[in-house]
Amino acid sequence: MLSGGVLLATSPWFSVFSEQKHTVHSKARIGVIGPGSRGQLLMSFLVQHPKVEIVAVCDVFQPSIDAALKMAPKAKIYTDYKKLLEDKNVDAVVVATPLHLHYDMVMDAFDADKHVFCEKSIAYTMDETLKIFQKHKRTEKVFFIGQQRLFDPRYIHAIEMVHSGEFGEISGIRTFWHRNNDWRRPVPPNATDKQINWRLYGDCSKGIMTELACHQLQIGTWAMRQIPEKVMGHGALTFWKEKREVWDNVSCIYVFDNGVKMNFDSVLSNKFYGLEEQILCNKGTIEPEKSKYYYEEIPPAPAFLQLINDVENAVFGSLPFAGTSWVPEMANINNGHYLLDKKPESDGTSLMLEAFTEAVITEKQPAMIAEEGYYATQLSLLGHQAMTEERTLIFPDSYKIDYLNHKK
Ligand SMILES: NC(=O)c1ccc[n+]([C@@H]2O[C@H](COP(=O)([O-])OP(=O)(O)OC[C@H]3O[C@@H](n4cnc5c(N)ncnc54)[C@H](O)[C@@H]3O)[C@@H](O)[C@H]2O)c1
Repeated sequence: MLSGGVLLATSPWFSVFSEQKHTVHSKARIGVIGPGSRGQLLMSFLVQHPKVEIVAVCDVFQPSIDAALKMAPKAKIYTDYKKLLEDKNVDAVVVATPLHLHYDMVMDAFDADKHVFCEKSIAYTMDETLKIFQKHKRTEKVFFIGQQRLFDPRYIHAIEMVHSGEFGEISGIRTFWHRNNDWRRPVPPNATDKQINWRLYGDCSKGIMTELACHQLQIGTWAMRQIPEKVMGHGALTFWKEKREVWDNVSCIYVFDNGVKMNFDSVLSNKFYGLEEQILCNKGTIEPEKSKYYYEEIPPAPAFLQLINDVENAVFGSLPFAGTSWVPEMANINNGHYLLDKKPESDGTSLMLEAFTEAVITEKQPAMIAEEGYYATQLSLLGHQAMTEERTLIFPDSYKIDYLNHKK
């Protein structure tokens, strides 16, 4: 399905799997910091990998430690991540703690000479995110961010097709992530609400933007091969008002320098439309999450359908309340095509961890992966700031990093 050269042009981080590699270590010895919900999922892949050894685990919550030990019984247990970082048996760490804790943990991990996989978003502020990125560059340690769509076969194929020019020019990008729940998790007797429901607290998380938007905004920059230059939007707490500091609905418009817009919308009290990143081009539309694409021009409908359509047009056209916008434009339905022959086995998470393992073993950072994650976080944070301040914000030059030069 994916051709080597084109794949590397579109997804240069796959160079980590290249044949000519120099293996420095036989195994990646990993320490997991924060084996909570996401951390356990990451561990479930890592423990199956023949080149991975989970040698240490750190958490401050006993149930998380217990769950981690079930998967990695030989792991050394820490309750202070700094002690884990002193452990010479640890080559690399996976940081899967709440957002506000990422900065110190990742910076200290680089200082302790560890490679880092940090869950998205990278950090709580744009400054912290930049400092982490700069430290990764200075230390030359491997740095991955949990943006698994970069390894998802559906997305890779979709972006490959977009970059090939198959659909013409990108006219707009509509991303949305709708859910119908309050994000609240039950709090066990031995824990505080903030510890468990940190996502709902403004000093731990930036809610929808850092939890959801970062995944989808990254698709826009990947497809466009550039970052948007400004953002505006509105966020509000409308439905789930109880004991919550973060918005439950947001709507942002990111504008690229050629005028193309990328929307991000999310409501947490209606899930009908679910999630998607719709890439709208002048010759077609791509919906990677559904694994589908659609050409603008489709073959004409059989004559009898055309006839029904004409009759419908006449009926709707004669109804005074309906208006022409209600009339279907053609009799034929555009069912589109599937991006892949079969459903992918994973959403990219396992392949992303495989790539991280290879990078740790070879001590080689694959191209562009950190940059994609970096901008995903920065765009989420800038969007959050624009909505907080209720004004249009230009992406500051001081947060721009070398991105385009590698990509083009
Ligand atoms: N890539 C994805 O699709 C995806 C999906 C879900 C979550 N995430 C990210 O993963 C991270 C964790 O989310 P989660 O849902 O697993 O949260 P969680 O609350 O379930 O897990 C966090 C864990 O960190 C532990 N922790 C808290 N403070 C700590 C400390 N000082 N030292 C060590 N451990 C500590 C907690 O006890 C808990 O076990 C977040 O950044 C989130 O955005 C990513």
